[in-house]
Amino acid sequence: MEIISDIQEMKKVVQALKKEGRKIALVPTMGYLHEGHLTLMREGRKLADVLVISIFVNPTQFGPQEDFQRYPRDIERDQKLAEQVGVDIIFYSSAESMYPSGYRTYVEVAEWGKLLCGASRPIHFRGVCTVVLKLFNIIQPDVAIFGWKDAQQFLILRRMVKDLNLDVQMVGVETVREPDGLAMSSRNEYLSPAERRQATALYQSLCRAKELVEQGEKDCQKIIAEMKKIIETQPSAKIDYISIVSLDELKPLSEIQPDNTLIAMAVFVGSARLIDNIRL
Ligand code: PAF
Repeated sequence: MEIISDIQEMKKVVQALKKEGRKIALVPTMGYLHEGHLTLMREGRKLADVLVISIFVNPTQFGPQEDFQRYPRDIERDQKLAEQVGVDIIFYSSAESMYPSGYRTYVEVAEWGKLLCGASRPIHFRGVCTVVLKLFNIIQPDVAIFGWKDAQQFLILRRMVKDLNLDVQMVGVETVREPDGLAMSSRNEYLSPAERRQATALYQSLCRAKELVEQGEKDCQKIIAEMKKIIETQPSAKIDYISIVSLDELKPLSEIQPDNTLIAMAVFVGSARLIDNIRL
């Protein structure tokens, strides 16, 4: 496994791989790898000849009051885990080389970036789209793998790829959960033991929503009210949003639409802002 920090060197290696006709898979990450990331990497391993991951805590997707500084980082641990799942190259660039002085260009998927998580993180998806487009330009992957855990991110990036005619196959992989249902996330690291127990309420509320729909409930407001009740029993939990939207357009729904419904939420548990979702 190779670690490449320099953008020009990464591009040279990619050029050589392309010349040999090798297919490249990319898993973009912000590091502090967990089983969720490793599942994406195993998928990438199956889909291409060369598996590249990027590790970059991207400053442009964090707002001024957010957790950029304290976001967990451990490159040595990440290297070992990446090696275990057969990663060929880690692209490990610095903020100075990704955004050198004078940097001015950003990419945005209009409107979708302001919905759901975008309502309280207004610059987040602009930063995500910008860095992912830069990574695609540098690494030129044939296929890129993302988790459905970040459903809005995946839908926005897939839209960007389509709208900008990028030749990247976008693959979404189901959320990987802890045995008690909590979606795996690097931010789970912020939870105290008591908060960690309370954090299971997110998935419990999603399961309750699914159960209600299976029992024939279609009214989104009623479903959201039931979900809120479950979250609000946890003293450290504060709901940022719970929304039921269409999967194709991210439009708020009043009634469940079979095969086109995303139930998404963000909840602060202590200082950790956790997100989760299910698709129906
Ligand atoms: O999902 C993430 O870890 C990040 O948002 C991503 C896609 C690596 C962009 O920084």
